[in-house]
Amino acid sequence: EKAGYDHFMLKEIHEQPESLRRAISGRLSNGNSQVILDELNLAADEINNYERIYIVACGTAYHSGLVAKYLIEDLVRIPVEVDIASEFRYRNPLVNDKTLVIVVSQSGETADTLAALREAQDRGAKVIAISNVVGSTIPREADEVIYIHAGPEIAVASTKAYINMLIVFYLLTIYLAQLKETISEEEIKRLIKALKQLPNQVAQIIKDSESEIKRFASDYAEYENAFFIGRSLDYAVALEGALKLKEISYIHAESYAAGELKHGTLALIEEGVPVIALATQNSVVDKMLSNIKEVQAREASVTGIVLSDEDEVFKSLDHTIEIPTTEELLTSILTVVPLQLLAYHVAVERGCDVDQPRNLAKSVTVE
Ligand code: F6R
Repeated sequence: EKAGYDHFMLKEIHEQPESLRRAISGRLSNGNSQVILDELNLAADEINNYERIYIVACGTAYHSGLVAKYLIEDLVRIPVEVDIASEFRYRNPLVNDKTLVIVVSQSGETADTLAALREAQDRGAKVIAISNVVGSTIPREADEVIYIHAGPEIAVASTKAYINMLIVFYLLTIYLAQLKETISEEEIKRLIKALKQLPNQVAQIIKDSESEIKRFASDYAEYENAFFIGRSLDYAVALEGALKLKEISYIHAESYAAGELKHGTLALIEEGVPVIALATQNSVVDKMLSNIKEVQAREASVTGIVLSDEDEVFKSLDHTIEIPTTEELLTSILTVVPLQLLAYHVAVERGCDVDQPRNLAKSVTVE
């Protein structure tokens, strides 16, 4: 049932192009000029009533929400708060009938996320669930559901579900922007065109980078700490990369917004400390270059995830993984792929139980 792969996680990483195609399928208009989410019952005047959006989830699903915040605020111009379900539910959150709440859960059974959903509904908010498991509790109790159609995810570490949460957030963001008319028809067409290329681009990254990542994974297997840095959307993805590495390889990993380094963390950077630098956001790439120089000056060992290694600074890195170019807002789906592969191959090198990491369960139905 692992279809020839050593682990479910690797199988699921390789399934991502297909699972992305499934999530997009049937959700674009004929001329690729509109996003269609027939499952949603949201009229334009309802959207205009919302003053704020809350995205609430746990773990990797929470990380997908951090990406969504950038997208929705940029394209739909509604303020978005992203909260961890176990914090939200005990915090007297500012939620009412002018708040749209989006809960995200692969399994649809996570106890804290379910409690957050109920809390939001009690306060008068409409709740949209984004989930993978049809008929699970969270989609059943939510007011609206968008399924991510990733197919069964067996490995405890989430990969294809994360990527499919992102694609659904891209679709939902464009859909909300259509309703609110916050972006032009031209812009919508451009985004949809780029979005349709993502499945092939994910396949290309796996093909182009996996053998190289596997090669340098043995260096990483020796480390006990790693730092992931990025700015803007890359910071949100860096958090997910660090979580993946921690949960399956047991290497302590932290993610920092690169601009925060000099406010404390830089003290930990010394010779040989591994830093994974995500630099795929053109709008802040110069800033990232100076952050990379900062850690290089302390002799960190730097792996870059970049759009092109043309720049002299990128050429000087210990390893670089290039990802294909897409719309800046859509890069996260591509950026995360080498991080998933890195976590996987490092865990294998360390002899870890990749699909069943210690202390963790696939579905967290107790708090
Ligand atoms: C990490 C991981 C977990 C889950 C979290 C929420 O790889 O899988 O962090 O994302 O437990 O699970 P769901 O999405 O089922 O609510």
